[in-house]
Amino acid sequence: MRSQFKTITATVLALALGGDAATAQGDGGVEVLHWWTSGGEAAALNVLKEDLEKQGIGWTDMPVAGGGGEQAMTVLRARVTAGNAPTAVQGLGFDILDWANQGSLADLNAVAAEEGWDSVIPAALQKFARVDGKWVSAPVNVHSTNWVWANKAVLDANGIAVPTTWEEFTAALDKLKAAGVTPIAHGGQAWQEATVFDAVAMSVLGPNGYQAAFIDLDEAVLGGDRMKEAFDRMAVIRANVDDNFSGRDWNLATAMVINGTAGFQMMGDWAKGEFLNAGKVPGQDFLCFRFPGTTEQVIFNADQFMMFDQGGSVSAGQAALASAILSPSFQSAFNVVKGSVPARTDVSDEAFDDCGKKGMKDLAAAASSGNLFGSMAHGHAAPASVKNAIYDVVTAHFNGAYDSTTAVTELVDAVSIAR
Ligand code: BGC
Repeated sequence: MRSQFKTITATVLALALGGDAATAQGDGGVEVLHWWTSGGEAAALNVLKEDLEKQGIGWTDMPVAGGGGEQAMTVLRARVTAGNAPTAVQGLGFDILDWANQGSLADLNAVAAEEGWDSVIPAALQKFARVDGKWVSAPVNVHSTNWVWANKAVLDANGIAVPTTWEEFTAALDKLKAAGVTPIAHGGQAWQEATVFDAVAMSVLGPNGYQAAFIDLDEAVLGGDRMKEAFDRMAVIRANVDDNFSGRDWNLATAMVINGTAGFQMMGDWAKGEFLNAGKVPGQDFLCFRFPGTTEQVIFNADQFMMFDQGGSVSAGQAALASAILSPSFQSAFNVVKGSVPARTDVSDEAFDDCGKKGMKDLAAAASSGNLFGSMAHGHAAPASVKNAIYDVVTAHFNGAYDSTTAVTELVDAVSIAR
């Protein structure tokens, strides 16, 4: 922990003092702060870099490793405090609204109007991209957290069909354990436990309960019997991970499913980018399915690029980046690689593999049937303070600090203090 802190502190200092940004902005280029550092993420980011380079827009890369973006947000705060905000920053949900409300973000209305963003970007995303009628960020994609990724050969070898209920899922875990395979590949980091909890809680609470707990912060649901059952299921999951899970990065957990040392991973669809980057084919090498009990629901998070106000109107680089991000051809090319689905409703699914096609279909169906919900784990359900409070309880319970009965009491207290 201490050495991780040192690394972050050193990174913060280096980035806060960094001089490259001025060059990038001076020549109409962009300095981009992001956390896309895994193999699959970097491959997707390259699609964007190359797109801009073709237009002669310089790119200064500011990667800050750490899935879910917590470390990137720490670096961002230091940069803004030092008066040296990057040009463009990857952001999620409520974080974007916070920066907009602090007056830090540039006005993208001119680009948005010229390109008709209002009519092609879904309402669920506009909620996190427009503040007081002003577009403040450019949506790149729509990810979803309630997926399970499985190694097909491992499932076949153990006579396991895709589980559709919690009971079938736990029966599959038992079979894998008996066969000496790690049932669930997991990385023990708070944001990963919260990502799993998104799906587990949805499966127990149902869509109304998920909304009440994580979006409306209803104490009766946060502290209720069904929430206790969700924690009980988390304990079952904990009993099915390997001994070395603590601190593991999410992409290393995905690698365990890719190489067949583990059967399943519960993770957002950025995991698909890792399978593709390893040359694996959906349906043949790996399977994607919704977490049992959440087949109708889509728990979403959308990556966006916030454009930080550089003192004046939007720079040429920022406008070019925003425009490139929302172009239909980029939306297809990027999301095919990233594992996500387009942030525009008018992009064809032709170039997408079966998991991508399913993702697009699920999203449209969930949006029209009232089954689309912002991800608690990825900042689309409640502001960061509440999110972090939930992280603390979920991760403490997962690591055995207390039982499920105590966890629900802690959850109510933590959320009430944080909100
Ligand atoms: C982001 C994804 C990213 C993942 C892991 C999520 O919060 O939305 O784009 O791949 O974190 O780093």
